[in-house]
Amino acid sequence: MAKVLFAFKTFVTAATLVSVVLGVDPNSSDGHNDLCAKIASTNKWVAPSDVRACFDSYKLDENIRSNIIEVVTKTLPFHTSVNFQRQAPPPFEEIHEDITGDLERISKKKYDSEYDMYIELSRAFRRLNDGHAGWINYCYVCPLSFSISSLKNITFPQDGLYINYLPLPLSLITDSDGQQSIRIAFEAFDVASAEFSDQIEFWQNTLPGALKGKLSSLSGAKVLEINGNEPWDAVEAKVAISGGYQAHTTRQNAFFASYQRSTTGWIYRLGDFAQESLHTFTLPYRSRVGPTAVDFADTTTWRQNNCLAVKTTNGVDAYANTTTSRRTRQHIKNEIMDDTALVNVALPPTITPPNPLNTSQSVSQFYVLDDKKTGVLALGSFSDGTAGFDGQVATLLTGLQALKAAGVQQLIIDVTNNGGGYVCIAHFLHRIIAGPKPTTEPQAGLYTTARAGPLARLISQTIAEDKLDPDRLLFYNSLYWSYANNTSFPPNYDWVSPVVPKIINGHQDAFTQRLGSECPPSTFNITAPPQAIFDPKKVVIVSNGRCGSSCSLFSITMVKKEGAKTVVVGGKKGPQQYSGTVGGQSIDFATVDTEIKTAKLKNNTLSPPDLIVNAVNGITWRLGYGVWNPNEPEEWQSRPADFNLAVTADISNNPLKIWERVVKVAFN
Ligand SMILES: *[C@@H]1O[C@H](CO)[C@@H](O)[C@H](O)[C@H]1NC(C)=O
Ligand SMILES: *[C@@H]1O[C@H](CO)[C@@H](O)[C@H](O)[C@H]1NC(C)=O
Ligand SMILES: *[C@@H]1O[C@H](CO)[C@@H](O)[C@H](O)[C@H]1NC(C)=O
Ligand SMILES: *[C@@H]1O[C@H](CO)[C@@H](O)[C@H](O)[C@H]1NC(C)=O
Ligand SMILES: *[C@@H]1O[C@H](CO)[C@@H](O)[C@H](O)[C@H]1NC(C)=O
Ligand SMILES: *[C@@H]1O[C@H](CO)[C@@H](O)[C@H](O)[C@H]1NC(C)=O
Ligand SMILES: *[C@@H]1O[C@H](CO)[C@@H](O)[C@H](O)[C@H]1NC(C)=O
Ligand SMILES: *[C@@H]1O[C@H](CO)[C@@H](O)[C@H](O)[C@H]1NC(C)=O
Repeated sequence: MAKVLFAFKTFVTAATLVSVVLGVDPNSSDGHNDLCAKIASTNKWVAPSDVRACFDSYKLDENIRSNIIEVVTKTLPFHTSVNFQRQAPPPFEEIHEDITGDLERISKKKYDSEYDMYIELSRAFRRLNDGHAGWINYCYVCPLSFSISSLKNITFPQDGLYINYLPLPLSLITDSDGQQSIRIAFEAFDVASAEFSDQIEFWQNTLPGALKGKLSSLSGAKVLEINGNEPWDAVEAKVAISGGYQAHTTRQNAFFASYQRSTTGWIYRLGDFAQESLHTFTLPYRSRVGPTAVDFADTTTWRQNNCLAVKTTNGVDAYANTTTSRRTRQHIKNEIMDDTALVNVALPPTITPPNPLNTSQSVSQFYVLDDKKTGVLALGSFSDGTAGFDGQVATLLTGLQALKAAGVQQLIIDVTNNGGGYVCIAHFLHRIIAGPKPTTEPQAGLYTTARAGPLARLISQTIAEDKLDPDRLLFYNSLYWSYANNTSFPPNYDWVSPVVPKIINGHQDAFTQRLGSECPPSTFNITAPPQAIFDPKKVVIVSNGRCGSSCSLFSITMVKKEGAKTVVVGGKKGPQQYSGTVGGQSIDFATVDTEIKTAKLKNNTLSPPDLIVNAVNGITWRLGYGVWNPNEPEEWQSRPADFNLAVTADISNNPLKIWERVVKVAFN
């Protein structure tokens, strides 16, 4: 039985398309004063202040406010972590967000514009520091990381209308005397002149005095001040609002440039400083229209084309008899959506690792180091958009076997900026490295639980009693899950009740029973080999700490169950966390809405209405329990790295040099 594989029907009915037809906007019918006409999408590059003026000009419509507040308020009971995030334990005590209280406040506060409300709602979610939970409105710039995942085969637009850039990615470099300094990245000019070729002259000409036209001379320069303050003040200002990861240090690391393996090549992540409107430095930020913005000319077309609900905003009744084609089968995902990493800026060729093994494919690249005994798997994601689920599974197996055949005895797995993907690929990679043993079979994952609010209970009960899901399309269908003893649930079983009550931070809450195995062998179209490929104690997992979701699930179980070691590259001196945003399974409002609609519960007063704006509300739907403390979620348990590798100028953003340094530090 393929429990976690599921087919999903495609259903787009007129009834599920919420459309709010905007006539001429009374506030912008005077074309002369239309502040959005100035940033019409035909102008690729504009000043951030003009983007802001357009956004500020749109008044908050009370119907939109009440719709957003009602949807989010009624979706939050499905987010596992609301009460945990009121106050996280050390070392994450910075997390203390009362999201329900904030929603209450935002529902009443007076705002000058819709954008002002958006910023507050988005920031409230960011304060959860949970890359799975967020509010993103594609009508606006969406400045930072946020996550969603969905069982639907939909690629979400991954960034906002405009994104602000500076041609100055920064690096944190440790000198030979151990002193750390923030520098303009050594590769800054190479990267910026390639990616922003149509804007670099603007910046060149803006540089003052003798620097004019000499942007390249700034590469490697030490940054002494940003806006008259210590550079670290700018880092901390950003860290306070960026969200995404629990650990303060991991959010600091996002400020700096880094690399990631993508489906098509090695990409360069500019870092939050170069990619966000935070301050004006000597150079002004410039705002570039996002690749997913739909063309617009003025306020009316901006609103119509970018701000209204689209067909994927809301869920659908999975059995509505309007099916024209079936969705492809999907696997459970747990992933962070990091909109800042998407710019396809290539890592400069001089620092791109050469000669991957010919078994390498897409996000999974294999290398043998010159010492001939160290192999490297560079893994940019647990979701390979090119090879697909089965393809990535096959690539991982043949790649590791090729490393073994090449005589490799120890393995580096570089998961820098890996934001997760398929849960069962994380389990599979662990299983093939470590071989069959009690920690990997029936699966290498964590026990999980879902939150059991009143509407969740009703959905589960209705689906079970009315046998509403014969094709197994819904997450509340018992056939997806198993008891804690790893025996599959029976069909039409209401697995959410009876609930397990729990008091968290003084608040009464309720969860489902503990769920066991979720990736049975039938999930995979190949059989895992009968022997371990590597000794897991000779595996070192390397990243900048930004290893989230399924990447966390993989790293944590490899470390805590198998004794693998971890290295965090760079970052401020002191303990660094090797992963974060563990979750268990991440979903979004549209997915919840599909469960509700298919269970015929949309009319229930507990159910959220359809959203009328082009936005996504991501949530953590299942939460994994800890390995070392199995009574509490893994999410807020500390995960300090074994080694904190100082980045010196000669290895900065150079994966091969970093791996060679890791060998010296972690294998000797
Ligand atoms: C136009 O502006 C007025 C006054 O600020 C406001 O009440 C109204 O809701 C706005 N209309 C739209 C469509 O934004
Ligand atoms: C669903 O549609 C198909 C073809 O469009 C039709 O044959 C079938 O009878 C319909 N079923 C129901 C329950 O309406
Ligand atoms: C699902 O997504 C993949 C990858 O983007 C795409 O190639 C495929 O056509 C999609 N399938 C459907 C049914 O939309
Ligand atoms: C890949 O490399 C191996 C070892 O060098 C070689 O035997 C094999 O033929 C190569 N395969 C392809 C498809 O190039
Ligand atoms: C498994 O899936 C991959 C990718 O779709 C395919 O190439 C391969 O032939 C499949 N293997 C088996 C044994 O079905
Ligand atoms: C169930 O699966 C979990 C996760 O793989 C494992 O830790 C546990 O030992 C299993 N329990 C039983 C009774 O098999
Ligand atoms: C697993 O637990 C369920 C529920 O307690 C029980 O019904 C079932 O018999 C157990 N299975 C095994 C193999 O112990
Ligand atoms: C909801 O209630 C309305 C009015 O009573 C009814 O027309 C509609 O069919 C109901 N919808 C669902 C999904 O039950």
